[in-house]
Amino acid sequence: MFIRTPLCDLFGIEHPVLLAPMAGVSGGALAAAVSRAGGLGLIGGGYGDAAWLNRQFDAAGDARTGAGFITWSLARQPHLLELALERAPAALMLSFGDFRPFLPRIRDGQTKLIVQVQTLDQAREAVDAGVEAIVVQGTEAGGHGGARATLPFVPAAVDIAGKIPVIAAGGIADGRGLAAALALGAAGVLCGTAFFASGESLASDNAKQAAVRGSGGDTERSSVFDMVRGLDWPSDWNMRTMRNSFTQRWSKDIDGLVRNLAGEKVRFEIARAADDTDIAAVIVGEAADLIRGIEPAQATLHGMILQAEDCLRRISRLVEPNSKR
Ligand SMILES: Cc1cc2nc3c(=O)[nH]c(=O)nc-3n(C[C@H](O)[C@H](O)[C@H](O)COP(=O)(O)O)c2cc1C
Repeated sequence: MFIRTPLCDLFGIEHPVLLAPMAGVSGGALAAAVSRAGGLGLIGGGYGDAAWLNRQFDAAGDARTGAGFITWSLARQPHLLELALERAPAALMLSFGDFRPFLPRIRDGQTKLIVQVQTLDQAREAVDAGVEAIVVQGTEAGGHGGARATLPFVPAAVDIAGKIPVIAAGGIADGRGLAAALALGAAGVLCGTAFFASGESLASDNAKQAAVRGSGGDTERSSVFDMVRGLDWPSDWNMRTMRNSFTQRWSKDIDGLVRNLAGEKVRFEIARAADDTDIAAVIVGEAADLIRGIEPAQATLHGMILQAEDCLRRISRLVEPNSKR
């Protein structure tokens, strides 16, 4: 397997594929599986639970992994950054909020900073700050995100990034997506949805099954799950999930949800405990179309690489060898 890009050199990895630091899903076992398969696994630091994060780093064992944090939430509990730095992570990724206050400490901690962006202005900010890599996340992504579509957003960010590697994210879950991202000028990809239903993922069994059954067309962006989870996300970002009876009831009636919030929080928590995916959130993106089964992360990653190589060879044959310009 031979696709090598500057991202491989930057992180010392074999394949230019990163596991997204999915809160509650990308634990140590999944991150380690992706890293051992030749990518880079990022543990999802999520909303901050020091004991949980310690357990996940332990679970990753001696695999070379990193971690990702939700920046606005990390700002409220900066000790989590210290906890992660103590583990000598291969990289840290910050998304959703102002990363700049954390930059000096991350530099001191001698690790690499990846910043995930949803707008070109954010991309410029990250490039100007000299971060090691930027993840350019299109709205197709599962979980929280913004409004730009991956296809035009990635090359526009590549034009801004100069020598800083761009990692494409949002809707990429197989080798065709990886090949397309490379064609757009990205140095690699970051995938969440593709690994959501991995054997090693911490998603619940029913959520994995729902992701396998579901299609990208069954997903939508909304804030309803943040409201019932009591998470005060800034309004710049909302969350793509599978549509279910809960989103259908409330995503177009936010005022109604506000009025009924106390009762709906209880209903949601009961559903979550019972793994009832008709009410609880199944957090996947448009790439749900491409999740065909529950398999080890290594199989997903290696399948992606082999398919990307086939794609790139096939595409290169479209160029006539003796074409005159
Ligand atoms: C279940 C799930 C949870 C996520 N949680 C986080 C998170 O905690 N922090 C973060 O930066 N991104 C999170 N994301 C977004 C990913 O970082 C990434 O942008 C996205 O998964 C890429 O698009 P894809 O899902 O189409 O692969 C999450 C995505 C999913 C699917």
